[in-house]
Amino acid sequence: MVVKNICCLGAGYVGGPTCSVIAWKCPEIKVTVVDLSKERIAQWNSEKLPIYEPGLDDVVKACRGKNLFFSNDIKTAILDADLIFISVNTPTKTFGNGKGRAPDLKYVEGAARMIADIAQSNKIVVEKSTVPVRAAESILNILSANQRPGVSYQILSNPEFLAEGTAIDDLLHADRVLIGGEDSPEGRAAIEELCSVYEHWIPRKNILTTNTWSSELSKLAANAMLAQRISSINSLSAVCESTGADVSEVARAVGLDSRIGSKFLQASIGFGGSCFQKDILNLIYICESLNLLEVAAYWQQVIDMNEYQKSRFTAKVIESLFNTVSGKQVALLGFAFKKNTGDTRESPAIHVAKTLLDEGASINIYDPKVEKSQIIDDLTNPSICEFPEQVKSRVKIFEDAYSATAGTHAIVLCTEWDEFITYDYNRIYKGMMKPAFIFDGRKILNHEELIEIGFHVQTIGKKLSRPRSPRCWSSKPNI
Ligand code: UDX
Ligand code: ADP
Repeated sequence: MVVKNICCLGAGYVGGPTCSVIAWKCPEIKVTVVDLSKERIAQWNSEKLPIYEPGLDDVVKACRGKNLFFSNDIKTAILDADLIFISVNTPTKTFGNGKGRAPDLKYVEGAARMIADIAQSNKIVVEKSTVPVRAAESILNILSANQRPGVSYQILSNPEFLAEGTAIDDLLHADRVLIGGEDSPEGRAAIEELCSVYEHWIPRKNILTTNTWSSELSKLAANAMLAQRISSINSLSAVCESTGADVSEVARAVGLDSRIGSKFLQASIGFGGSCFQKDILNLIYICESLNLLEVAAYWQQVIDMNEYQKSRFTAKVIESLFNTVSGKQVALLGFAFKKNTGDTRESPAIHVAKTLLDEGASINIYDPKVEKSQIIDDLTNPSICEFPEQVKSRVKIFEDAYSATAGTHAIVLCTEWDEFITYDYNRIYKGMMKPAFIFDGRKILNHEELIEIGFHVQTIGKKLSRPRSPRCWSSKPNI
């Protein structure tokens, strides 16, 4: 079989960009991305795509309507496909056995059942969503139990390693593509089919083929080890703040050791995003299920350190503001979990906002890409707040940073957006209450310059001096 027709179940952060790049690089393959959500598909077919990702608009424009289609007609897409990607969501369970740890596989199972109900010819079914080890077995069980006569399935694991904000570049220049499959003639043939898709732009030497379970576990392992580096440097940031060392200098010195390397050593307010925490919890759950309790406890520490970092940072904000933020106004710059995305899943900004609101502050939020409705949804989510009305009355969302910071007592920088570096902080300072505070949770600002202006500055992993000559201590902003 030569793959001519691909269907992708799930038009989210993984399915959308991945299949757009496949369509762009494989003009002779028809790629149809389907989703249960009518709204999401309408957005993919509109001028404003449902996700912000640098470079994505151009790729979609180049192939949409030619060999790339977004549709809710799941049945036709499955019937026509030779190869089906499952790119549905796998959130952490919020109920029942494995609550707070195990991934909720109901969407993966739903997708497998749809394929089983609809398919009338042989299919290669590819897990793209991050799943627990041996999930492929469950998918195969569902498909085999509902198999029509004459229809056969091959299940492959092909985890996606793209990071949000750099997804298109990551897809185009992947360090490696990983494909796991069954060690049988049919399994090897299916692996070859998927290899031939990627070989349109990825050199064969960068396509790694393994057994299914290694592939599934490698995805969890990669995310766990990346997150572990961040927790490690964040743990050292606390030591730096108490000793006078500077965590950026430490990270540079350590990262220049070629055995360690420099990436993912940027100390921060804590890691966020839909993957790191979820995948580590998934790994912990697997270890606990296998009675590998020491291993589970080891990985749990990576998450605990991240929680500690978020709480430590927010506690520092409150402590610096004379131990109370009740009735004060605080500006939050950035709400996305990292720059160049509008995604807020597990964003540390949510933790900061929640704590400040619990302590009685009013908050002004500005993020270049996150939709207002998303911020309100996040902060009024039942897991975050008990009284949504109270949140709505104390949270204001702004279209620019100058209006968001005007009249506030403090700025808390939660996301490392480039534009935050280029602002006129003299102008911002003038508009703020005095003393004016800046808490740089991403270590991106010029702290010396801010101190010179008169700001009280706090950051991660470095003790900073007080303002040299406070220019204005009146409690009113001079706008
Ligand atoms: C991650 C993995 O990088 C990717 O391979 C996988 O497919 C999905 O999960 P993503 O969550 O999109 O990607 O972004 P990533 O760049 O990994 O950042 C995750 C979080 O870690 C962000 O909150 C980021 O700000 C934070 N981070 C990253 C740090 O705090 N310090 C760093 O040095 C790097
Ligand atoms: P990810 O970040 O993993 O891509 P998202 O939540 O952004 O996750 O996207 C997953 C998408 O999968 C959602 O748009 C959801 O509606 C869709 N989805 C879930 N189950 C199915 C299914 N059985 N068929 C098609 N789409 C599905």
